[in-house]
Amino acid sequence: MSSKDKVLEFLENNKDSYTSGEAIATSLGLSRNAIWKSINELRKAGYAIDAVSNKGYKLADNNDILSAAGIISYLDDSLKDFYQSGDDLIRIYDNTTSTNRLAKEAAIAGAVHGTVIIAKEQSAGRGRKDHSFYSPDGGLYMSILLKPEHLSTLEPDAITTLTGNAVCDAIETLVGVRPRIKPINDLFIDDKKICGILTEAGTEFETGDVQWIVVGIGINFDSDISAFPTDIKKTATSLFAPGKNTITKNQLAAAIMNKIVNYT
Ligand code: BTN
Repeated sequence: MSSKDKVLEFLENNKDSYTSGEAIATSLGLSRNAIWKSINELRKAGYAIDAVSNKGYKLADNNDILSAAGIISYLDDSLKDFYQSGDDLIRIYDNTTSTNRLAKEAAIAGAVHGTVIIAKEQSAGRGRKDHSFYSPDGGLYMSILLKPEHLSTLEPDAITTLTGNAVCDAIETLVGVRPRIKPINDLFIDDKKICGILTEAGTEFETGDVQWIVVGIGINFDSDISAFPTDIKKTATSLFAPGKNTITKNQLAAAIMNKIVNYT
């Protein structure tokens, strides 16, 4: 992990208090200069970092930049250790074709249960029945790779429903509104679609054994619905208006992972 990522992880885990550069340096085993450089790099990347003399540094409250460190800071303890154990367990892209496509490629390449692929935008988002899924900036697009040995069911509808309930629970806990599931894969708020789910799997053809499952979740987070194509905007809504979010995408992604990724 780079010094910058280590400092970000430290700041994410200590969001509520100021820490001096010296204390951060000691805690991470880095030089004061490395901390200073990392803080500057993080600011260049868009992070708002408060600095107060005699107190130190703290992430400002209004940061909403998706990052592995940011997500990990909101995970339950049981998942924290796991996701901290590897650099490629949470993969975040500014823009990609489709997180489901990347997750399937990762599965074939041997990625482990719980690997998460997240994008801020998708150029070829996949919907059910080979439809496309409009995925502009403002949405949260995530795919989670699951392995059969960690699941209590391999029934496709059950996994999609479990995922839908997990997203509903996460949104209700963080925002106080519970979306309605329109079976099997759509979530609605006020009769407008806020989230679509696409579950895909790989099987060994000869035995029919399921080898991996990818659950893909697309949420209109603080999307500008007025800029959506005409046919979609009539039926779509967003959790927040653009820039009016009261929670971060990191928080929502972590809350969903807490409900879905299971190690039993
Ligand atoms: C649907 O509404 O038909 C399901 C849409 C599922 C969209 C999500 S966004 C993240 C993941 N990546 C994709 O390409 N599709 C799913």
